[in-house]
Amino acid sequence: MVVFSARRWMFLCWIMFSMMNASTLAQPAPPNNGLAKTPPMGWNSWNHFGCNIDENIIKEMADAMVATGMKDAGYEYINIDDCWMDTVRDAQGRLQADPKRFPHGIKWLADYVHSKGLKLGIYSSAGTKTCAGYPASLDHEEIDARTFASWGVDYLKYDNCYNQGRPLFQRYQAMQQALAHCGRPIVFSICEWGLENPWEWAPQLGNLWRTTGDIRDSWESVMSILDQQVGLEKYAGPGHWNDPDMLEVGNGGMTNTEYQAHFSLWCILAAPLIAGNDLRNMSPETKEILTNRDMIAVDQDPLGKQGYKLQDEGNEEIWVKEMSDGSRVVLFLNRGEHTAFMTTSAEKIGLPRANSYTLRNLWTHKESKTASLIRGFVPSHGVLVFRVWPANG
Ligand code: GLA
Repeated sequence: MVVFSARRWMFLCWIMFSMMNASTLAQPAPPNNGLAKTPPMGWNSWNHFGCNIDENIIKEMADAMVATGMKDAGYEYINIDDCWMDTVRDAQGRLQADPKRFPHGIKWLADYVHSKGLKLGIYSSAGTKTCAGYPASLDHEEIDARTFASWGVDYLKYDNCYNQGRPLFQRYQAMQQALAHCGRPIVFSICEWGLENPWEWAPQLGNLWRTTGDIRDSWESVMSILDQQVGLEKYAGPGHWNDPDMLEVGNGGMTNTEYQAHFSLWCILAAPLIAGNDLRNMSPETKEILTNRDMIAVDQDPLGKQGYKLQDEGNEEIWVKEMSDGSRVVLFLNRGEHTAFMTTSAEKIGLPRANSYTLRNLWTHKESKTASLIRGFVPSHGVLVFRVWPANG
């Protein structure tokens, strides 16, 4: 018989205790549905249409996504938000589409959207009703996930209304498990409004999670959401993203300079790029903002690093994002009422020493060289964004 001394027992217990701690304290593993390796891109009905949706609007939005060049720029999902359901489930207990707004049903719409080379998203809530009061999925997770899969749905936004005060984690986990067994890959978008630090528990369940309450079409709303993203960068990565809510670009409440800033900041944050405007009637400026490929490449970089705030001097902020090719993107933000002249350097934004650096202005698309300083005028409520590469030799 092997006899362990007291010291040996203590040593073994210490090893077991450290192993338990390592596994329970580690960052939660991302969901392994293999989806959303880069932040999802698409369109959603809520910000512009609210409940005033029907199948024609959704169909026309898919057409416009292709015709405007947004699909070519990387946008993929056409997402129906709240108010698509009938007020009652069918005889088999399944959710069904409102027969007046969606007379052909969701499968027909999904087939149409797929025929355009796009994907379809849908909405429900981890509660007894959606926020607008329609039937939702709490305690119906299995049947609803199977119904969505049978229709060909590719993305589920899952809200938090009418939750009966039941524990968050269990409610979202029930749908995550139902989706995992529904027989179709479905992006899982958790919409818990950032109430209970979702960045700590949602990465193991969802592909994205809202970090704040609802966005509004105003500069104040965009700035307030931005302030709530500071420090969250460590929780994001391929397959699991912080979601500062959908875009308001083109909805009319901000200037084009402000919309350019809103879009640039969302790209620096590696945020999902879900447009929320009427794609059928876009001004050339709105289209230019939403399809800026230099900015989209920042958002969609395969390294999947969310940018962080490097410097904060009142109204003047500097944000930086690390890119997979060794370059860095630097964003100067001017929250003040007057034009500002802002400066940083290649060293400060974390680039290795080099003889010179190439700068690409991601809005004018012009390139220049610098020995180290990166600087320029930044308009009021605007941004100046450069991608910076150390030059060879
Ligand atoms: C909540 C969500 C919004 C939207 C509405 C729909 O407020 O946060 O994004 O989905 O519900 O009712």
